[in-house]
Amino acid sequence: MLTSTVVVNKEFVISPLDRRVFGTFVEHMGRCVYGGIYEAGHPTADGNGFRQDVLALTRELGATMVRYPGGNFLSGYNWEDGVGPKQARPSRLDLAWGSTESNEFGTNEFVTWCKAAGVEPMFAVNLGTRGPDQARDFIEYCNHPAGTRYSDLRRAHGFEQPHGIKFWCLGNEMDGPWQICQKTATEYGRVAQETAKVMRWVDPGVQLAVCGSSNHSMPSYGHWEQEVLERCFEHVDFISLHQYFRNDANDIRTYFSVIEDLDSFIKEVVAIADAVAAKRRSPKRIMLSLDEWNVWYKAHTPADLRQPGWPRAPRLIEEVYNFEDALIVGGVLITLMNNADRVKAACLAQLVNVIGAIMTEAGGPAWRQTIFHPFSQAARYGHGNVLRTHTHTDSYAVANHLKLDYLLASVLHDENSGRCTVFALNRSTTDAMRLSVELNGLGHRSLVSASELHHADLKAENTRSSPDAVNPSGHAEVSVKGTHLQAKLRPLSWNVFVTQPV
Ligand code: AHR
Repeated sequence: MLTSTVVVNKEFVISPLDRRVFGTFVEHMGRCVYGGIYEAGHPTADGNGFRQDVLALTRELGATMVRYPGGNFLSGYNWEDGVGPKQARPSRLDLAWGSTESNEFGTNEFVTWCKAAGVEPMFAVNLGTRGPDQARDFIEYCNHPAGTRYSDLRRAHGFEQPHGIKFWCLGNEMDGPWQICQKTATEYGRVAQETAKVMRWVDPGVQLAVCGSSNHSMPSYGHWEQEVLERCFEHVDFISLHQYFRNDANDIRTYFSVIEDLDSFIKEVVAIADAVAAKRRSPKRIMLSLDEWNVWYKAHTPADLRQPGWPRAPRLIEEVYNFEDALIVGGVLITLMNNADRVKAACLAQLVNVIGAIMTEAGGPAWRQTIFHPFSQAARYGHGNVLRTHTHTDSYAVANHLKLDYLLASVLHDENSGRCTVFALNRSTTDAMRLSVELNGLGHRSLVSASELHHADLKAENTRSSPDAVNPSGHAEVSVKGTHLQAKLRPLSWNVFVTQPV
């Protein structure tokens, strides 16, 4: 049996958690939009064609913000194609995914869907085939009240009030050779700088995220962040990070190390952003937007990425998640919460079908993938201040990582409700763990709920025929006395304990 202790103090706060870290992502790709959130004719579809079963699961997932419309799709997208009367909208070739885009669903449909889902839209402007001119038109269409060409066009399309979209991404993964109109850091830095300026002149209230590297392994990583921020520092609020996690060694002990890799990635980008600030003697801090993250390595064949014949809404990268993937997602969420001082937005990519937390069948059911569960629990209980944890736990080593703690934990205190929640991952493959958490400064407490996500088979999946194979259950071995929480964590388990003042 392993023994781990965690000590927190109400006064020792990393940061209030920004609820935008529970964002997700809808791209015009595969069956994410068409057959995912939108399927006219589906038995649950409303008058807008929005699947109500998917909407209900989106609310249950607890997503706070949804990024749209891409992804790689963005870099060839003309926003004008997706507004106005549907019968007049053109079908276009989507070069990013080799598909035909009908444009039946566009900006106004997405904003309407976000209202129904109770989420904030996060929009992006195309800096691949397009640039500042179209970005200023698009933000005028979305956010300007009235009396100009594009604001009046929006009103003519039935949206009298401006959409008031606050969060905008300046392009997508512009460093990647796969991107439509890839750019060097210098080229991108210049166009992002000028685009940010004109967007802010149209609407000074927006928040802007500049593209960081497409992932931690890009050859230009580091240099890219530095050059882009040197140019855009005064004009943007966020730099983006994207990271997809792989289980290449098919070994859970090694697979867990992607969590530490992400933690390093975050801290390195913070260091670069702060070095740019320091050279300017600026107190401004650029925040991080991890606006694409997930497990993605199984559905990665050429056929997963592109199919011949320019199909409409083909099955692309429909990763089926298993229990071990859910443990990784749980561990990543703990890391995001523990970096709450700098990670102020994050998007699980994607919401439905395409590396989705939710899966659907055309005309059929929708169900929760395994990774749905840690995300929905973190989104439900992740409120308030993230407390600094002082942890004693054993560790193990795998190649390139000298020390991986068996216990990963995050503790949040919500001053409004008084609730204090402990998220704990036991990474031991063999040993149960006796966990002891000392909640100092929080008064005597009682247990509100305790749950465990565990399965005997790491490869267990949720499927159409077995949608609840991997599901959280009540926790049998937990007690709270005074300020002290004690629990026994099974090997390979993700656990959530919620307490309140007595
Ligand atoms: O989420 C799938 C794709 O992954 C996105 O379109 C792109 O930004 C990333 O490479």
